[in-house]
Amino acid sequence: MTEKIEIEDLPGVGPATAEKLKEAGFNSVEAIAVASPSEVAGFAEIGEATASKIINAAREAADVGGFETGDQVLERRKLVGKLSFGTEALNELLGGGAETQSITEFYGEFGSGKTQVVQQMAVNAQLPVEEGGLGGSVIYIDTENTFRPERIAQMVEGISAKNGVEYDVADFLKNIHVGRAYNSNHQILLVDTAMDLAEKLKDTDKPIKLLVVDSLTAHFRSEYVGRGTLADRQQKLNKHMHGLLKFANLYNAAILATNQVMSKPDAFFGDPTKPIGGHIVGHTATFRLYLRKSKGEKRIARLVDSPNLPEGEAIFSVTPEGLKD
Ligand code: GTP
Ligand code: MG
Repeated sequence: MTEKIEIEDLPGVGPATAEKLKEAGFNSVEAIAVASPSEVAGFAEIGEATASKIINAAREAADVGGFETGDQVLERRKLVGKLSFGTEALNELLGGGAETQSITEFYGEFGSGKTQVVQQMAVNAQLPVEEGGLGGSVIYIDTENTFRPERIAQMVEGISAKNGVEYDVADFLKNIHVGRAYNSNHQILLVDTAMDLAEKLKDTDKPIKLLVVDSLTAHFRSEYVGRGTLADRQQKLNKHMHGLLKFANLYNAAILATNQVMSKPDAFFGDPTKPIGGHIVGHTATFRLYLRKSKGEKRIARLVDSPNLPEGEAIFSVTPEGLKD
């Protein structure tokens, strides 16, 4: 990933084809690399054989889609960073913190602390690696208008007091790039914008190391109501999840997403503690945590799904200074 190859650079893609592909949302070589020949042929108004050639060239250029040998996977895994929650209990539950190259999902009912957790992580991610951070900056996709700079300031002050260092609140705020998503399409689009920003910052001293989506599912849930729209919704969500996962891998970044639980269980979806988004979200998120309220400031997090960690629970507190044990 030294020099960025544009889609115009691919053999067989002239300016007119490039324009059509971009209009259809294929604005990077990576996007073309994972598209199907019929999609590309349709949007670019070219033959399928030509489309296949373009896709193959994109795959080579983007270095996606092939097999990795076990030792290559091991090399990539060596780069995995762990972002500290700032609480021993949560860190232990997740084997040291939230991983980069992964999506960690927090689901739970309103007030369970999802937004508090992700705001705290937007602060922690900026700390140096020695202090449990990822030494980078943050993209925060806010779909419910609940990001609060004042709360970030309290959390930065909380860490200053804890570490005995005078952190500058303004610096922390400067390194959180907040995008308001107005609907689900806009939300998906913001991930592309996030890629552009990450690309721009990747060789600076503040590369994007955390991408937050709060909430992952709220827009989808309110826009796609009724049974007939479920397939559409799932397809869109699937696309969104894969966009996020791609971001995680390309930039060795952690992805944190929040999700609600179903409030009105019916005969088909009986369990009111089940997250929205069904299998699509469940299978793409690498780690899933179920948050629930306990007494006062206390919250309980249960790890419900993970490739290599035991299920378990952690208790933490949401205090004025931020998350604590
Ligand atoms: P929804 O987005 O509505 O689904 O809820 P959520 O899970 O995101 O809840 P959120 O993280 O907003 O948690 C709300 C709870 O966190 C409140 O009930 C408070 O207990 C606590 N909280 C929120 N803001 C503050 C704050 O500024 N200071 C302190 N000490 N606690 C806060
Ligand atoms: Mg919230």
